[in-house]
Amino acid sequence: MTDHAILSGKRVLLVIAGGIAAYKSLELIRRLRERGVAVRAVLTAAAARFVTPLSVQALTEDTVYQDMWSLTDESEMGHIRLSREADLVVVAPATANLLARMAAGMADDLAATVLLATDTPVLVAPAMNVRMWTHAATRANMALLERRGVRRIGPNEGAMACNEFGPGRMAEPMEIVDAIAAFFAGEARKPLAGRRAIVTSGPTHEPIDPVRYIANRSSGKQGHAIAAALAALGAEVTLVSGPTQLPDPPGCTVRRIETAREMLAACEAALPADIAVCAAAVADWRVAGESDRKLKKDGGGPPALELTENPDILATLSRPGGRRPALVVGFAAETGDVLAYATAKRARKGCDWIVANDVSPGTGTFGGNDNTVHLIRASGVDSWPTMGKDAVAARLAEAVAGHFEGK
Ligand code: CTP
Repeated sequence: MTDHAILSGKRVLLVIAGGIAAYKSLELIRRLRERGVAVRAVLTAAAARFVTPLSVQALTEDTVYQDMWSLTDESEMGHIRLSREADLVVVAPATANLLARMAAGMADDLAATVLLATDTPVLVAPAMNVRMWTHAATRANMALLERRGVRRIGPNEGAMACNEFGPGRMAEPMEIVDAIAAFFAGEARKPLAGRRAIVTSGPTHEPIDPVRYIANRSSGKQGHAIAAALAALGAEVTLVSGPTQLPDPPGCTVRRIETAREMLAACEAALPADIAVCAAAVADWRVAGESDRKLKKDGGGPPALELTENPDILATLSRPGGRRPALVVGFAAETGDVLAYATAKRARKGCDWIVANDVSPGTGTFGGNDNTVHLIRASGVDSWPTMGKDAVAARLAEAVAGHFEGK
């Protein structure tokens, strides 16, 4: 189905909070209206200082709601009805302040009251200064909201209106439109309902002694996005994650581990499963005989660390047998000759599919938001254009669903 077919006739309640990104919300309204979406807007007092209610009213072709007290009139719509008469509530921009008020369950203005009163799904597009986004308070608020089922798009990384650089820019209007379309498409289709999936994500930490460990730079973004995408298609997902800075993806059971051996144990405990996606950057080696006391400089020079091989989770899950998931997907991060190495890796590990990417310095893949991948299956190689990790995850989840639907 095209975006237009999915979106046409849908009703979105757009809550605009007070941030400079509010100007992009005007564009968002235009793009949604073009696709046949009925948009009704609520502005906070601060939002009305960034965009005029008149502009919003002209673009939505509907009343703009700002004041809680004006809704007490019988002829006006109450705040409960306002939120119930929407198929999706979109908060764009979602400022740090509004996220905090949502997390705390406050109802101190119309926007917060509507968000507290609603039982309609909510999608937020955060926008704020990078320091506000990375502040522990905002992170905790966002994580709490996501655990409660609030969906999130962005923020993106890049230059910001405040002349700083980093995550905090609101997602572009078309990205928000796509997320809204994906929400409605997902609502309609749950092709993975009844399927169980295990996803590994993030790095592992392999202890040297009680304070030191061997690790790698994996952010976990891709693995977490895959877990969320499979869950969005109806799968019952267990995410087994090494240490990351990421919030738990919505709709997943999360098992947090540190070492490769713990990751394997958590995966085995999550069996049986129909699908396993191993996106974690598992440390290939750990220190043999880790010290249970902190290693000291004792004048004898640096210690020699002896390494021993870790269990290979992907290869273990791929091993033929009654508990093997029907579809096992691995990742291959390569530098140069990506397809040849990854194809060999698929055979060596015994998995069904390999998602291969180039992590050479300069590609920005490790820790970045974009990914350029090739999907290697028995039937051949499918090379995907560069896209965001969320989009890679959504496409991979669709491919998994297609596999089970026999497409
Ligand atoms: N993997 C795993 N357990 C390990 C090592 C890797 O599950 N102990 C999985 C990863 O999650 C990923 C795939 O195997 O799906 C990557 O293979 P790996 O052997 O780690 O690739 P490289 O380290 O890049 O291997 P090589 O050094 O052989 O290129």
